[in-house]
Amino acid sequence: MVFVEQNLLLSDLVARNRDVVPIQYVRPISERPNLEDVIASDKSNIPIVDLQGIDGSNWSSVVKAIGLACQSDGFFQVNNHGISEELMANMICVSREFFRLPVSERNNSYSDSPLKANRLSTSFNVNTEKFGCWRDYLRLHCDPLEDFIHEWPSNPPSFRDVASEYSKKIRELALKLLGCISESLGLDKDSMKNSLGKHAQHMAINYYPTCSDPQLTYGLPAHKDPNAITLLLQDNVPGLQVLKNGKWVAVNPIPNLVVNIGDQIEVLSNGRYKSVLHRAIVNREQERMSIPTFYCPSMDSIIQPHKSLVDHKNTQLYRTFTYGEYYEMFWNRGLSRESCLDLFTISQN
Ligand code: OGA
Ligand code: NI
Repeated sequence: MVFVEQNLLLSDLVARNRDVVPIQYVRPISERPNLEDVIASDKSNIPIVDLQGIDGSNWSSVVKAIGLACQSDGFFQVNNHGISEELMANMICVSREFFRLPVSERNNSYSDSPLKANRLSTSFNVNTEKFGCWRDYLRLHCDPLEDFIHEWPSNPPSFRDVASEYSKKIRELALKLLGCISESLGLDKDSMKNSLGKHAQHMAINYYPTCSDPQLTYGLPAHKDPNAITLLLQDNVPGLQVLKNGKWVAVNPIPNLVVNIGDQIEVLSNGRYKSVLHRAIVNREQERMSIPTFYCPSMDSIIQPHKSLVDHKNTQLYRTFTYGEYYEMFWNRGLSRESCLDLFTISQN
């Protein structure tokens, strides 16, 4: 992207002039969000899975519900997930405070290198992309916590405490969901978990400033997440949309977590569960925050469809690769293609 000034966040650019969308963010007409065609979400189009009893009493019915949601949508909300509303609210609150710090405080950790584990950055990958994304983000690695926490922001003063508590709780939930997903595919409960090697957990704190003309640009254009599974916490401002039956559906920001299948589960499940296209649009009146947790394999993990899901009827759809190989491809394409999965498919002819 033709960027204006180094180390400048979009929020700082917007603060100088709220009334313009700088040219590097204006998408060509054919690539704009067409907001008038978006469908409002209701209970029937984004499934909600009740996780009450996931720890025992209701395990098998939760497995069944998750299996259905993964099969039909790959994108669902969860309630009764065991993460307190207070913790979720605190997480949003310290994140917002971080983005409100004076520039001199907050921009110390700026980096536009995807190789840097913990960084404050803007757009997606300013080194490779043609158009800017209307977002700033703080990207944090969360596991093992002690390897990374010293690089996390120390201001606001409660940031590290709240974010580490949240990341531990969300990790537990991600692992439970992986257990359910494994069993719902007829695999051992630990199967997905074992496929992720040493595991990794990243968090993005996405900050989408107000935008004077949301029809021209995206917070994040349509993409599939490259990781195994994403658990997203968001504030009460709409913006997230998911592609369903060829139409974009707005996901209401109700106080549930949103879960989506990422590319690695699509591969491990040999395509039974699909990674789904989603995007974030921006808002004229209100800034928005979202905090996805990306649960991933470690870079050296070898990813391939699970053997028991490949047979004469279900041929192997994806080749074997390391997650590191996949991840590099994801960051370098600059979100100019919607998905990397097609680069790893085995031709069926
Ligand atoms: C992401 C993402 C959606 C949102 O960060 O990968 O899809 O609502 N975010 O911010
Ligand atoms: Ni995403």
